[in-house]
Amino acid sequence: MTDAILAIDQGTTSSRAIIFSPKGDILATAQEEFEQLYPGEGMVEHDPEAIWSSVLRTAQAAFKEAHAAGHTVLGIGITNQRETIIVWDRKTGEPIHNAIVWQDRRTSAFCRKLVEAGHEPMVQQRAGLLLDPYFSASKLAWLLDNVEGARQRAEAGELAAGTVDTWLLWKLTGGRHHKTDATNACRTCLFNLAAQDWDDELLKLFGVPKALLPQVEDSAADFGFASPELFGTPLPILSMVGDQQGATVGQACFRPGDIKSTYGTGCFVLVNTGEEIKQSKNRLLSTVAYRIGGKPTYAVEGSIFIAGAAVQWLRDELRLLKNAAETAERAERAQADAEVVMVPAFTGMGAPYWSPDARAAVFGMTRSTGPDELARAALEGVIYQTRDLVDAMAADGLPVAALSVDGGMAANDWFVQRLSDILDLPVDRPKVLETTALGAAYLAFLQAGTFGSLDEVAQNAVRDRSFAPKMEAEDRERRLRRWRACVEAVLMVAK
Ligand code: G3P
Repeated sequence: MTDAILAIDQGTTSSRAIIFSPKGDILATAQEEFEQLYPGEGMVEHDPEAIWSSVLRTAQAAFKEAHAAGHTVLGIGITNQRETIIVWDRKTGEPIHNAIVWQDRRTSAFCRKLVEAGHEPMVQQRAGLLLDPYFSASKLAWLLDNVEGARQRAEAGELAAGTVDTWLLWKLTGGRHHKTDATNACRTCLFNLAAQDWDDELLKLFGVPKALLPQVEDSAADFGFASPELFGTPLPILSMVGDQQGATVGQACFRPGDIKSTYGTGCFVLVNTGEEIKQSKNRLLSTVAYRIGGKPTYAVEGSIFIAGAAVQWLRDELRLLKNAAETAERAERAQADAEVVMVPAFTGMGAPYWSPDARAAVFGMTRSTGPDELARAALEGVIYQTRDLVDAMAADGLPVAALSVDGGMAANDWFVQRLSDILDLPVDRPKVLETTALGAAYLAFLQAGTFGSLDEVAQNAVRDRSFAPKMEAEDRERRLRRWRACVEAVLMVAK
């Protein structure tokens, strides 16, 4: 029996609740996938009530199991899909529209106009981000302009907006708290990285009234108490952190230069840059890694929109797979000399290309191409994109010596070995692959006083296995040349 934290991990395709001990042991867990809504070309939405009910069900199930086993749950840590935006009525708590998901591209023409008008350098300098539909601000502007009466109601202070962390906090506390943390705030494109506050210039650019926005706290903070009827006791909410930053903490990337790559729905590589806001010259993002005790630690991030989602597409749309785990054996079995390349730009391309209108393509198919070759191509498409990010980081003066990976796909040995081969770097895998939720739990333990410092947290990090590159340099280079040519073709078609 031990003290524990209930970590809520609200991801793009599923909600998970995991009860962690301070050592990082998983004491109970529950997970639910929920519906993805595709209302039009390039659009992705979620029902905010479906997000909330899946979170509540999984959190209650995990809490009940841990409680029955005699563990003491000290409080809740929340980690979440970032950028996805929800607007709701402050009085009734009713959302005015579905959540517009980070993958949604409906504001791509709007963002292009802002780029053409010359606003991108100002945005990069203040927010650390680029002008792309990925971030919340253009989606929020779309909601204000397209939902009847929304702008007036926003200006009158009747509406509240927030990323998924803020929505969950609102629901958990029965509408008593409208707050976010710095790691989530900095993904909206409305937050000034250096000042650590909402930025008036950015609010003006996107036409967003400040009255809509939540109060910004540290990632480990007292966010309020869950309504007592939810868990039979008023559990305190002790941390909130964007999922990629959560994984950064979960992987104990606390020193400048520490780097992790998480393979969930998308793939996100973050390198810790300490107290320095490093501005990329190679179209990477600057972001808050975590903020503790009022002090922000920054990171440079490379974001790939599709990782596990490519495997999900093979499973759900093409029905070529029964489950995601099958990809390992299929990739192994694929014809060695088949040269099928998938550029998985299903929702545009993120870093370092930033082409919202790019669409996915498969190259090099023959009549013997089957599910095995496509499964391998899907995994490799994610791997090649990781290589592009690592190259961009090196060009920014952030050379990578080894990469720590986590997330669902990292359980696949074939994937991690091929990643190491293509990066030509050692790739380390931690014992706990649920590092996103673990990071939220660590921050909550810190707030609860179980840990006195991040150094104490770091002592927990346990590695499972290290993969070393085995591929011949010539082979790797040939594959990379082919990948780059395929990306060129995809970008050209998008123009
Ligand atoms: O920026 C989007 C990211 O937070 C989504 O993460 O885990 O759902 O791929 P995930």
